[in-house]
Formats: sequence, C-alpha cells, structure tokens
Amino acid sequence: MRLIKVSDYNEMSETAARLLYEKAAEKPEAVLGLATGGTPEGTYAALVRKVKAEPIDLSRLQTFNLDEYAGLSPSHPNSYYKYMERKFVQPLQLNKMQFHIPNGEAEDGEKEAARYESLVQESSGVDLQLLGIGENGHIGFNEPGTSFQAKTHVVTLNKETRAANAKYFKQIEDVPEKAITMGIGTIMNSRSIILIVSGKRKAQALKRLMSEEVSEDFPASILHSHPDVTIIADKEAASLLS
Ligand code: F6R
Repeated sequence: MRLIKVSDYNEMSETAARLLYEKAAEKPEAVLGLATGGTPEGTYAALVRKVKAEPIDLSRLQTFNLDEYAGLSPSHPNSYYKYMERKFVQPLQLNKMQFHIPNGEAEDGEKEAARYESLVQESSGVDLQLLGIGENGHIGFNEPGTSFQAKTHVVTLNKETRAANAKYFKQIEDVPEKAITMGIGTIMNSRSIILIVSGKRKAQALKRLMSEEVSEDFPASILHSHPDVTIIADKEAASLLS
C-alpha cells in the first residue's frame, strides 16, 4: 500500500481527481468504481474543473458505484443515484448508460444485488476503484464481520453508520436500514484502488488500517492483500500515525 500524505481536504481532493483524470485520459474506455458520501465530494468537483480546463473524451467511460440505500427510489433527493447525477454524471455530461448504480427501489434486493454483480463482471473489470472509509473500517457498506469473499449483497447498516449519515436526512429514523453494496470480493477484483481519508474523525480508522492487522472485524484491512492500493490522507486523518 502506498500512502500519500497531503495537507488538507482540498489537496486530497485535487490529488485523487488527478489520478482519476489520468486514468480516463490514458484509457478512454476505462471502468471507474465510484464512492459517495462526504469525502469524495471535493474529488468530483476537482475532476469536473480539470475536465473543463483540459477536456478529454469521456464518451466511452463506464462507471459503477459501490452502493445505494435500499428503499430509496433513484429520484429521492438522498439517493446515491441523485448524488451522482448532481456531482458527476451531469457536470461531466455523461450519458446515463455510462453510469451504473444498484437500484434501491428494486422489490427483491438480493435479486438486484445479483443483477448488479453480473453487470460488474460482464464489464471489462473495474480499472480504478475510489473508496472512502467508515470510522468502523467499512468500505462500500461492508460492515465489520462481512466475509472477505462477499459479492454484491444486501446489508443491514450499523447504528453508527446510520448516525454518520443522518446529517443528510431530516432525522436518523429517515436513514434507510438497509443498502445494496458491492462486496469486498467485488471491490478486491478492481485493478487498482484509491482510498481517500480526511479529518480527525477518521484518524483512528487510518491508524488501525496502517497497523497491518488483517481481519474481517475491520473490513478495510483486506486492502493489505491488494497489489495496487494508494491511500491519500490529509494531515488530520494521518495525525495518529507515527
Ligand atoms: C459510500 C461508501 C462508504 C463511505 C464511508 C465514508 O459510497 O461506500 O463506504 O465511503 O461511509 O463516508 P464519508 O465519506 O461520508 O465519511
């Protein structure tokens, strides 16, 4: 694992955006795996700025998001579909067919998970996967205890994960209890991975990740077994590293 320490959130975002941009520029038919949440917002904004400043052909790019809340329709303002539409798909003028995300309103979540897994498998494979990390070490919505072999599946979100995301909803009760997420097995199939980590709130998680203990109790620890992982962490996130 390669650790790039940067000064702050902006530098983290610019650095991650540059790596996404370079991948898309060098391989126009690249498949990107994308995350949502607070951490990548700046990365997407920086990527949009860079593409506007130095245009590249994105017409063959394909993207697969990690996860979506179960029970939220794509048109719900808090769905990850909407998040991506606002921050990535529309500003980069992508065609909807280029962008993939689990359907949160599917009646049968497991069937939807299997459909989504097949879509990822049938693609040429994720070239670059962008990840954030939860305070409990989750990647995607794979909470502690998830099998390292898991493919896309339905998960029950932990109380702490729902609490961390409650700020986007009116009240915690409105945060869906379940989500559909790529499994750790799916994520580990990506050719390369970028993990972005920012802020004091994530310092403990980054410290635990860098301790090199690999355990299903701390899902992100599996990244030690991947051949090409770059972690971009800001000063606050890296503050507990020696
Ligand atoms: C989001 C995702 C999650 C987040 C994690 C951190 O698609 O898969 O693993 O990356 O919950 O979220 P933030 O960035 O909001 O702290």
